[in-house]
Amino acid sequence: MIKVNIEGTLGFLSEGEIGAIDTQGPLKKLETLYENGWMNLPAVYSAELSWKVKEIAAKIRGQSKVLVVLGIGGSYLGARAAIEYIISPNYNSLPKDTPDILFAGNNASGEYLQEIIDQIGERDFSVNVVSKSGSTIETAIALRFFKAMLEERYGRNGLKERLYVTTDKGSPLCAMAEREGYAYLEMPPEVGGRYSVLTVVGLLPCAVAGINIDEMMGGAKEELENGLKEACLYAAARQVLYRKGKKIEMLACFEPAFRYTGEWWKQLFGESEGKEGIGIFPAYADYTADLHSLGQYIQEGERTIMETFVTFDNPRVSPLIPGGSLHVDKIASLAGMDMYKINSSAAAAVKKAHIDGGVPVIELIAPEASAASFGALAYFFKRSCAISSLISGVNPFGQPGVEAYKKNLFAILGI
Ligand code: PA5
Repeated sequence: MIKVNIEGTLGFLSEGEIGAIDTQGPLKKLETLYENGWMNLPAVYSAELSWKVKEIAAKIRGQSKVLVVLGIGGSYLGARAAIEYIISPNYNSLPKDTPDILFAGNNASGEYLQEIIDQIGERDFSVNVVSKSGSTIETAIALRFFKAMLEERYGRNGLKERLYVTTDKGSPLCAMAEREGYAYLEMPPEVGGRYSVLTVVGLLPCAVAGINIDEMMGGAKEELENGLKEACLYAAARQVLYRKGKKIEMLACFEPAFRYTGEWWKQLFGESEGKEGIGIFPAYADYTADLHSLGQYIQEGERTIMETFVTFDNPRVSPLIPGGSLHVDKIASLAGMDMYKINSSAAAAVKKAHIDGGVPVIELIAPEASAASFGALAYFFKRSCAISSLISGVNPFGQPGVEAYKKNLFAILGI
């Protein structure tokens, strides 16, 4: 379960102010919203769904050395976050018996697309196209490239065996899958893109990478059952801080494996809360690396930032610092110390410095980085995001503002 520590905010707010925030009203409202279908997913996760996802994943693993996942926003960030968090940000370079996973269709860059095509090279590959609407332009364009490539390499029948379509029932992509005979995984209609990581959207790429999806869903279920109070605390604390002028929330983690979870979190909170002229701006920083780029601003720039640190009770590994002669005399005494001690000391040092500099710090503590804790964190963030959005008075679902650039793009392209 995810623990929330607000002790680093107490110089900026009082516990009474947090207690005065009504979270019951938002929770009641949440029950009435159609797109709240993600809330119960861990509880209704069935052996049948688990078996189906694992069966398709096994087929992909058997037929290919590379899986290309086409999707943008909520249709790829969750899967990428999970693979990097649970296995490694260097998953593709690790020695392994599971396919490389490449992500495309998440930008409009020809250079990027060509690079993915070159990385596949002569290796056998499969494609999982993920799009809830089935009409997102970046993903649709990428699909044209990879569908043509599959057909050229494997023929029409091979294409049918290697293209896996994840979308809403009735979408244009679903119609294509039915018409042309591709494997089809239905997205639950009442779950929005950025809330979909614990559906087939995230589960299939994770299972292909060898992640234990049952453990992931188990972690989410435990969070669903036991984590409500902590989710409300996080939601209320950040809203009190927002009202006090902390307009930017910097989520930060001291593990580089968390980076894409940070990207996923940015979309979740940004698209859910940034509406109607209000909303906390979500930013992500990778510590300690970004202390050497953003650290100056966070310490001494405009005082509009709050921070949320994600830390772990236990490291997965913690190598010891070697002895021998060192070029920096000051650190000679650290020989033999384990890196978890160094990293947690860095977190404590940064926390104190930033609080002293006027930045309140909320801490979210996970037991360790694992499939279960990823599921728990994903559920925790979705729940606290929905509550926080409703506390601020906006609907956490839908993203009407995203249409503006699409409209202009279509006009410029004349389509
Ligand atoms: O949260 C959302 O629903 C969106 O941001 C989508 O994830 C994103 O726009 C991709 O849409 P689609 O899955 O329809 O291609």
